[in-house]
Amino acid sequence: MEYVVSTNDLTKTFGSFTAVNKLNIDIPKGKIYGFLGPNGSGKSTTIRMLCGILQPTSGNGQVLGYNLALEAEKIKPKIGYMSQKFSLYDDLSVFENLDFYAGLYSVPRHQRKARVQEMIDMAELNGREQELTANLSGGWKQRLALGCAIISRPEMLFLDEPTSGISPTSRKKFFNIIQQLANQGTTVFVTTHFMDEAERCNNIAFISEGTLIANDTPDNLKKNFIKGILAELELPNHMERLKDIEKLSSVKDCSVHGSLLHVLVDSKQQLQQLQDYTKAEVQVITPSLEDVFINLSKQKRNEAANE
Ligand SMILES: Nc1ncnc2c1ncn2[C@@H]1O[C@H](COP(=O)(O)OP(=O)(O)OP(=O)(O)O)[C@@H](O)[C@H]1O
Ligand SMILES: [Mg+2]
Repeated sequence: MEYVVSTNDLTKTFGSFTAVNKLNIDIPKGKIYGFLGPNGSGKSTTIRMLCGILQPTSGNGQVLGYNLALEAEKIKPKIGYMSQKFSLYDDLSVFENLDFYAGLYSVPRHQRKARVQEMIDMAELNGREQELTANLSGGWKQRLALGCAIISRPEMLFLDEPTSGISPTSRKKFFNIIQQLANQGTTVFVTTHFMDEAERCNNIAFISEGTLIANDTPDNLKKNFIKGILAELELPNHMERLKDIEKLSSVKDCSVHGSLLHVLVDSKQQLQQLQDYTKAEVQVITPSLEDVFINLSKQKRNEAANE
């Protein structure tokens, strides 16, 4: 298979600190590739290397057939990139921002007007073309920033937490656009902390302390990472009860999900023991992606503690 992005032991160190450690990923065309991980795990650093902004310390990779270390300048004009702190010009209007980025990405002059209009339609900014960007609220701004990033119709799009700080409705709208772009053949690399968005990715890579610790479809992650029977229970003072339950020999794992506890056991007999012990109503559930990620983060922490 031909990949739009492919890396081979891609590594970035800052002094003696390793931010990205021997990363190997392959992304096929037209897929939405979700990149998840705790704060400071190396997501933005990875994106910066893939965009040709940051030189890898070792290892290598290709984006759209160009070598990351040797052909970074060829990659930059071919991709769309929305950085975590994306830069729109607040003192320009909606129209002026789009027109500016069209120029920056060398959209041919005779196509600019149509292309800007296309982005205004996409972002649902009709009637607000002359509005000052500073006056737009979160969701509109984010869609305008996306418009600026894709005005040159890049084949590959990098989005670094594009939906943080906007309303759930705006997030959904934003991801619908991402999905449409992917359906039209754009390959999308996106970092997010939201599980509903991760669920909509074709593939999820999970990175922790610079190391890739899981990489699969959302369905496979749910199937393969939680081994045992997962039960949900509602208890008064559930935060305090967590510690007692965790100590039970029959319990493999216990975590808090809002006002509920999720408990992992190995057998029906152990499930019964849990019920007898807590006297709560114990309900068997299918693992969600959140369960998978809580589990993965814990595994990593335990490994680090045992080192
Ligand atoms: N230029 C730099 N110099 C030194 N350390 C850096 C530099 N850039 C990033 N780091 C460190 O590398 C680690 C990874 O940072 P990175 O920004 O890639 O994480 P992230 O996964 O994007 O986090 P977040 O979810 O908070 O955005 C962090 O510990 C960060 O402090
Ligand atoms: Mg980041």
